[in-house]
Amino acid sequence: MVGVGVVGAGYWGPNLIRNFAATPGCRLAAVADLDEGRLARVRSQYPGTATMSRFDELLANTEVQALALATPAGTHFALASQALQAGKHVFVEKPLATSVAQCRELIALAEGAGLVLMVGHTFEYNVAVRRVEDYIRSGELGEVYYLYSQRLNLGVVRRDVNAMWNLAPHDVSIALRWLGGMPAAVNARGYTYLQEGVEDVVYLNLEFPSGVAAHIHVSWLDPGKVRRTTVVGSRKMAVYDDASADAKIQLFDKGIDRQNMDGSLGTFDSFGKFQLIQRAGDVLIPHLDFAEPLKVEAAHFVDCVTNRKRPLTDGENGLRVVQVLEAASQSLRQGGASIPIH
Ligand SMILES: NC(=O)c1ccc[n+]([C@@H]2O[C@H](COP(=O)([O-])OP(=O)(O)OC[C@H]3O[C@@H](n4cnc5c(N)ncnc54)[C@H](O)[C@@H]3O)[C@@H](O)[C@H]2O)c1
Repeated sequence: MVGVGVVGAGYWGPNLIRNFAATPGCRLAAVADLDEGRLARVRSQYPGTATMSRFDELLANTEVQALALATPAGTHFALASQALQAGKHVFVEKPLATSVAQCRELIALAEGAGLVLMVGHTFEYNVAVRRVEDYIRSGELGEVYYLYSQRLNLGVVRRDVNAMWNLAPHDVSIALRWLGGMPAAVNARGYTYLQEGVEDVVYLNLEFPSGVAAHIHVSWLDPGKVRRTTVVGSRKMAVYDDASADAKIQLFDKGIDRQNMDGSLGTFDSFGKFQLIQRAGDVLIPHLDFAEPLKVEAAHFVDCVTNRKRPLTDGENGLRVVQVLEAASQSLRQGGASIPIH
């Protein structure tokens, strides 16, 4: 049995607590939070779980072999590095840390000590995201031309990070997984309305070496809840709508085909002789056996700790997302300049 300690019982922590408490092969050994009221709620629901307000007390607890951090992004590096130095396996909520240098340090610490480091890119454990990945890998969509996503809501407004660092880690991790690589360059424009220096709305563009473009729009100042990604391929187009209850994926047999004037399918070589013909076929709503992504994620972390496996969303995966966000932050400061990613 892996003894798991959760740090942070605010908005998101209770979801981790609930899932680790129910994951086979692990025991919710302890929960730490600075807020005594939140700890009291945890005690009432999980009487067998130790609670404490001091992080070092959690680190000293020998029943805890692995920690899950659900604290604000700015604390991730300090808490994760202390935990790794204390010999604990670590799961960190997104983003892994707030700079590339910090991510590299966490990866080195984990590797040096032979410990598991995993980042909570929840959507990579979502069956709908995986199904679209299968469509892309299997060629169902044809050649991927571009994708765009919107993650919009009214609140929760954060004070510690802007809407991009809060919301876009999900969309960036999805885009990197689907497209299977890193962008060559990134640019971003952000707009600030509620708090000085904290962007509420960000439009982010990722440009991949293949010419594929990914556009990400995030906002916590929007009338409606939208969590939708559209992928346009040469054969088919897919819409992934996380907010939909019964049609999380729609697969459109739609596209624009090039046809030679003589009726044969052509190539770019004889571009001038083409007609562009619209094709509109059926729409498929695939059946998905949905499992709560956090449940899958918690079980995966426990499996990785127990069997010393490398997580799907390991430190390198967390680093790649932060590389994109760090470059995008530089672009925000430079009025939307294109920032190459090395
Ligand atoms: N995966 C997802 O879909 C998802 C969704 C929401 C939030 N998150 C992530 O979860 C993390 C927490 O977000 P939140 O919205 O719950 O924040 P929150 O502010 O609601 O809660 C954070 C909690 O951490 C506690 N805390 C802070 N520093 C601490 C310390 N040193 N020791 C012990 N406790 C400490 C605070 O008292 C608070 O209760 C963030 O990294 C966020 O990005 C992930």
